[in-house]
Amino acid sequence: MKILFIGDIVGRPGRHAVARLLPGLRERYGLDVVVANAENAAGGFGLTRKVLDELLGLGIDVVTTGNHIWDKKEALAFVDGGLPLLRPANYAPGVPGKGVHRHGLDDGRALWVINLQGKILMPPVDCPFRAADRILSELPPGERCILVDMHAEATSEKRGMGYYLDGRASLVVGTHTHVPTADAEILPKGTGYQTDAGMTGPYDSVIGMAPEDSLKRLITGMPTILNVAKGSPRLAGLYAELDDATGRCTDIEGVFLREV
Ligand SMILES: [Fe+2]
Ligand SMILES: [Fe+2]
Repeated sequence: MKILFIGDIVGRPGRHAVARLLPGLRERYGLDVVVANAENAAGGFGLTRKVLDELLGLGIDVVTTGNHIWDKKEALAFVDGGLPLLRPANYAPGVPGKGVHRHGLDDGRALWVINLQGKILMPPVDCPFRAADRILSELPPGERCILVDMHAEATSEKRGMGYYLDGRASLVVGTHTHVPTADAEILPKGTGYQTDAGMTGPYDSVIGMAPEDSLKRLITGMPTILNVAKGSPRLAGLYAELDDATGRCTDIEGVFLREV
């Protein structure tokens, strides 16, 4: 199974980068599945139904999110609507939405997508490690292709999750920090791993936001409206190939493209 994972799509520049670059990536890699984190896709904060539909229309099969999932209140109106949309699985019991999704391919194969959120320097959540154990124990044993989006701030927690799930998940990919890391690799027991897929959005920015807005907040500590930056849109993510029978990752490479 050939998978493209796209890192946090930020605002209109990020959506444009996907629209411009995904067709070429699909052709180049012969993709079976496209998964993208889109927690910042609507104006930099959260998701609207219109933006979600736009992303699904561009050929993204499954959308993951993170701590920004509730930024747009209308998300509550569609998060339980049977869409291929995830919020972290380790939110409190009873929270709307779901954290696990089965994406079935026309030929019968399936990719399970699990969304988790870290607990270090993040809003409080249930333990992502115990949540992963519980979810994995409930998946059908015959379907071994499993992608985990570990949405977290701390590099250590993300690498820890990679090793915790090594040999149990096919891919563990980090999101949230918006800066791609250069450690796309296959861990010893066969799990493909990258600490952060990076941001799909404007790189002439402070993690997607206009530098002047971010600096105002950083320097003064005052509440500041953060506007999505415009310059240097790029697509960041990860390509991986999985062995369908075992779920092991057989090939992985970071993807980082300038929009041209
Ligand atoms: Fe993000
Ligand atoms: Fe985030």
